[in-house]
Amino acid sequence: MQNFDYQTPTRLIFGKGAIAKLPRVMARFGKKVLLTYGGGSIKKIGLYQKVLALLPDKEIIELPGIQPNPKYDPSVLEGVRLCKENGVDVILSVGGGSVLDCSKAIAAGACYDGDPWDLITYKVKAKAALPIVDILTLAATGSEYDAGGVISRTETNDKIGYQDRLLYPAVSFLDPEYTFTVSKGQTAAGIADAMNHTIEQYFTEDTTLLNDGFCESMLRSLMKNGRKCLENPEDYTARAEMMLCCTYGCNGILALGNSPSGWPCHAIEHALSAYYDITHGWGLAIITPRWMKKILSERTLPRFVKYGINVFGIDPKLPAPEIAQRAIDATYAFFQSIGIPMHLRELGIDERRVEEMAHHIAVNEGLDEAYVPLSESDIADIIRESL
Ligand code: NZQ
Ligand code: ZN
Repeated sequence: MQNFDYQTPTRLIFGKGAIAKLPRVMARFGKKVLLTYGGGSIKKIGLYQKVLALLPDKEIIELPGIQPNPKYDPSVLEGVRLCKENGVDVILSVGGGSVLDCSKAIAAGACYDGDPWDLITYKVKAKAALPIVDILTLAATGSEYDAGGVISRTETNDKIGYQDRLLYPAVSFLDPEYTFTVSKGQTAAGIADAMNHTIEQYFTEDTTLLNDGFCESMLRSLMKNGRKCLENPEDYTARAEMMLCCTYGCNGILALGNSPSGWPCHAIEHALSAYYDITHGWGLAIITPRWMKKILSERTLPRFVKYGINVFGIDPKLPAPEIAQRAIDATYAFFQSIGIPMHLRELGIDERRVEEMAHHIAVNEGLDEAYVPLSESDIADIIRESL
């Protein structure tokens, strides 16, 4: 087992009616609040109105319109400007992962005198960040319990994962009822995203029985409860378990003591989103089985066998290569069964920019140190197979 140094300082307030604690939680921060949100779903579900009613004493400054795959320009820049001009004390992020990720970049940018891009690209280390409180409305990314945010810059085709301990939310409100209205497509994307977070941590060299069991159970739960959420979007129990799975997905708890895996599917998907602005979870669902096929070898076979038997219940008496192949097929079939388009062409991506994207990934993500190292041409193969 590898050494680690781990702390997640975020307070989780989970369950039906959790928002009742919002006034008390917000009381410990100052008076000026930057309220960040997306394209309007929070108004449709009445959450926006509820938040304002619960915070009559606060001075609320609003940053609406944060898009999926949140953009540096205008959202991050505009948020930083609002924080600086108004002397904001705390950011209240209400929405999905994109709103929260954008809020994290704003939180750091607001405490920095230069161009916030310096922080996102690690040219400069942030010295401080504004505190963040979030009310999550979509189960997927795990941003509510991690220190990362992913920001896109359209003009340079960059989508950069930015991490800093300063960016953990101070408090995350997780009420599964707020996810009842998430569309089938976004629910499926959330299932795929959290499953892939687990898979990225499961497929690595040095693992433990404990972590493997945790990951296998997460995957089974996500498939079972994810399906239930799609069948009945207002199934509280299923939405709740899916939400908790997603929260656990990305803050490293599944891989404490494991060797690093390199998160290869995320590296590839982030480039696809950067170039084509596609839905993150769908891109991952398409890439994952093709990546699995690419890395299957004598060395990785035992991992695939374990995955196939413990996650999909494949007969352990079958020959190992057959178990592995069936496991990859079952992964593909599950994503397809929850309605995810399983070819990049269906998302408007064709062969024209495959080489360019592969080069971008190889240079910027460094997948030569992944669990199974991937060269530029390996990456191009995976994308081409996914078309
Ligand atoms: O913008 P609004 O109107 O709010 O609508 C959103 C958006 O259109 C809608 N939505 C959210 N909650 C809803 C709802 N619709 C109805 N009812 C609700 N309750 O859903 C759409 C997608 O929202 P978005 O926030 O983009 O989705 P998600 O949470 O999947 O976030 C995706 C982003 O997170 C990044 C992804 O790359 C992508 O940019 N990631 C962040 C990570 C992190 N911080 O740790 C890790 C992930 O791997 C991922 O990369
Ligand atoms: Zn993800």
